[in-house]
Amino acid sequence: MKPAAGGDGGGQQASRRRPADLGLLALLGSSLLLNAVFLARHFLPPPARLLDGVDAAGGGGCGLSWALQAAREAEAVAAVDCSGHGQAFLDGVVGEDGGRPGCECNACFSGPDCSLRTPGCTADADSGNPLFLEPYWRRHAAASAVVVSGWHRMSYSTTDGMFQSVELERQIRRLHRAVGNAIADGKRIVFAAGSMQLINALVYALSPDDANAASSSPPARVVATAPYYPAYKAQTKMFDGREYRWGGTTALWANASRNSTTDDGDGGFIEFVTSPNNPDAQLEKAVLGGSSAAAIFDHAYYWPHFTHIPAPSDEDVMMFTMSKPSGHAGSRFGWALIRDEKVAKKAYEYVKMSVMGASRDTQLRMLGIVKAMLANLHGEEDIFAFGYDVMRSRWRRLSTAVSRSRRISLQKMAPEYCTYFKRVREPSPAYAWVKCEREEDEDCYDVLLKAKIITRTGVANEAGSRYTRISLLKGDDDFEVLMERVTDLVNAEKYDDAPGSSSM
Ligand SMILES: Cc1ncc(COP(=O)(O)O)c(C=O)c1O
Repeated sequence: MKPAAGGDGGGQQASRRRPADLGLLALLGSSLLLNAVFLARHFLPPPARLLDGVDAAGGGGCGLSWALQAAREAEAVAAVDCSGHGQAFLDGVVGEDGGRPGCECNACFSGPDCSLRTPGCTADADSGNPLFLEPYWRRHAAASAVVVSGWHRMSYSTTDGMFQSVELERQIRRLHRAVGNAIADGKRIVFAAGSMQLINALVYALSPDDANAASSSPPARVVATAPYYPAYKAQTKMFDGREYRWGGTTALWANASRNSTTDDGDGGFIEFVTSPNNPDAQLEKAVLGGSSAAAIFDHAYYWPHFTHIPAPSDEDVMMFTMSKPSGHAGSRFGWALIRDEKVAKKAYEYVKMSVMGASRDTQLRMLGIVKAMLANLHGEEDIFAFGYDVMRSRWRRLSTAVSRSRRISLQKMAPEYCTYFKRVREPSPAYAWVKCEREEDEDCYDVLLKAKIITRTGVANEAGSRYTRISLLKGDDDFEVLMERVTDLVNAEKYDDAPGSSSM
């Protein structure tokens, strides 16, 4: 046996050993070697060769077994040709032949492969469906795919008996830190089924505890500044808690002395502050201050593809959703960042009592999505750079077309410095907030509907019927149809203005 290189003189001792000792050493050595091979087989990842080639069973298994069938099905459905104007889904409707699910066509396209364009089709710019990000995830198909085993997290609880994935929470904190849009350190995270669920969870958590006791304190008033996201009012009224009630817009309360104006005492205020705002995309601050006013900052759109980020938000109660930053609205996942432990506990209890925590399957999918986002930040495939390019180009095109109009106008937006991109960026709002300028156009929703554009009336936001909202978040096909109809509308003004013509 040769001395070990750089050894400590053991070579001389070895040369004096007897043959019996040497035999014993050889036996020990080969046993150690066998053990090492055995451990390596179990604990090291399989060599790359296995992942590329044919598995032992000869099934083209790439070293995989149970995940293969599902992967094949997923890829086969993804490969169904829908002419770029629709797509097939794994859970789509299966034809009578029992074969693969067929194409689900984008609006204004039809036919088995979605290749037929419907002429003169109405543009639907109503919903805030964030499908503008679908092409991004198609480009990142491998990084964002998730394999869910049949036995994944079957239990009600996850790690440590909670309803929340510890790892997902860690990655969300990393995302906020990397994007610089919110300070998550020193705050608790509460997961929910979309931020839609958080609206009432947080109102409940911030409401007075003893409001339903006999000697109760009066209910809190839930308020928002118009134009506001209508779900705040709709949910507050629908759940009708004894601890809180809808209090209208902040304009009613901003200058009033609360004690003198309330008929049933002062239960304080819970103010929704949506920043950037839905529908008009402005960054907002709380209007009501003082110790009796709590604010819930809805930061659904506080991400660099929709707005500049002047500084990380550090509010006591903030809510976020994955629907808008990654576009996965269908997964129904949102989270709140809450400074106060008691408030966080109440919000967590609410989610526990209503749905026993956000779906564990969704949490797994979101973990993959957040990791994929993080891996590409500031790189060529940065999701925020991608989203910003799309949204900026849409805003430019729409505002250029509308700038020729004297009939409709859009909200004013200026370029601003963004700490994420480290430069001044152009506006790229999620929504266009349209005002009808002509005196006779009192119902702007109706004006646009007559021009074959479906929008969302400003009546819902308590902004009045002269305003209506156009969503810029949908897929490319929807946006192109929208641009066609807006161009038609603006072009028609030339003829309206001609002597002797009547306005439409
Ligand atoms: C301001 C605002 N908050 C909350 C939501 C709800 O988002 P989700 O329930 O998809 O998380 C939306 C959806 O459009 C929104 O615009």
